[in-house]
Amino acid sequence: MRVLGLETSCDETGVAIYDTEQGLVAEALYSQIALHAEYGGVVPELASRDHVRKLLPLIREVLAKANMQGSELDGVAFTKGPGLAGALMVGACAGRAMAYGWGVPAIGVHHMEGHLLAPMLEADAPAFPFIALLVSGGHTQLVRVDGIGRYTLLGESLDDAAGEAFDKAAKMLELGYPGGPQVAKAAERGREGHYTFPRPMVNRPGLDFSFSGLKTFTLNTVTASRAAGTYDAQDQADIAAAFQEAVVATLVIKCHRALVQENLSTLVIAGGVSANTVLRARLAEKLAKTGGRVYYPRPEFCTDNGAMIAYAGHCRLAVGQHEELGVTIRPRWPMTELDAV
Ligand code: KG4
Ligand code: ZN
Repeated sequence: MRVLGLETSCDETGVAIYDTEQGLVAEALYSQIALHAEYGGVVPELASRDHVRKLLPLIREVLAKANMQGSELDGVAFTKGPGLAGALMVGACAGRAMAYGWGVPAIGVHHMEGHLLAPMLEADAPAFPFIALLVSGGHTQLVRVDGIGRYTLLGESLDDAAGEAFDKAAKMLELGYPGGPQVAKAAERGREGHYTFPRPMVNRPGLDFSFSGLKTFTLNTVTASRAAGTYDAQDQADIAAAFQEAVVATLVIKCHRALVQENLSTLVIAGGVSANTVLRARLAEKLAKTGGRVYYPRPEFCTDNGAMIAYAGHCRLAVGQHEELGVTIRPRWPMTELDAV
């Protein structure tokens, strides 16, 4: 079964083809980062319009790479939510219409399920059940995964998502957008232990997160350093490093706690922040000590992409699930509402 996947939930237009026998056949991605950079964040209306411009050329490119005609596809998957309504509409309308034209089923995919299943695209894929840490710009969730669509939410952020905290810290440090990779890069120059930031909520039981206090702490540190006249490139790097260590330490502690609570040893991390190399290293260290293992997607599939949507849609289409003929999107959509496969 060959499935075309379309991702348009935010600021990346992603297209891919996944084949049951061959796996990922072709993919292409267009990032709108340059478009939104001057505004310091995603402008929804600009995002929608750019998806309209880029989606069809990318679909043609992917079909050409796969040496296929659209009529040779067996299904179309598009991101149905969560995400920006206008941006989602572009992929949903195009996907639903093309599937109708080709006479094949369409399926609306949950964006976070796409992220969650992205490690399955690797040769060394995790086996169910496992704990997933979903860390993106909009979500920070710990989920018990017993199979596709069999998700139990164990904990989540009560305020900012981890990626959002990275983006806001980057703004305070004047590091540009998107913030995560910039903070990570600046942190490489940071001196370990020069600043120590609080680890939010680690002393409280449970698996929820909160990053807004850390955000305030970062702002206060930057403001104090500026007032004292000590704020320079080195100080900026030291603050970035301390911020990153605090976020990573918090995530590691909660992941470990979730594994112990659920008596599991396999951890999956996915979503934009899972590209963070310090997070990967700290999780690997922690799990090596406790006999667990961590799986994650290759770096380009940590952030938004079409491959994860093609794969997740393929899993559902393969068992006969599909959309009705109308176009529906779910800008807000709890992952626990999904049907099991
Ligand atoms: O999954 P994603 O591409 O989009 C959403 O669904 O939100 O995640 C984007 C988020 C942004 O907040 C970005 O700053 C963060 O992931 N991010 C990172 C890194 N790369 C991307 N955060 C920390 N370190 C990174 N290397
Ligand atoms: Zn995402």
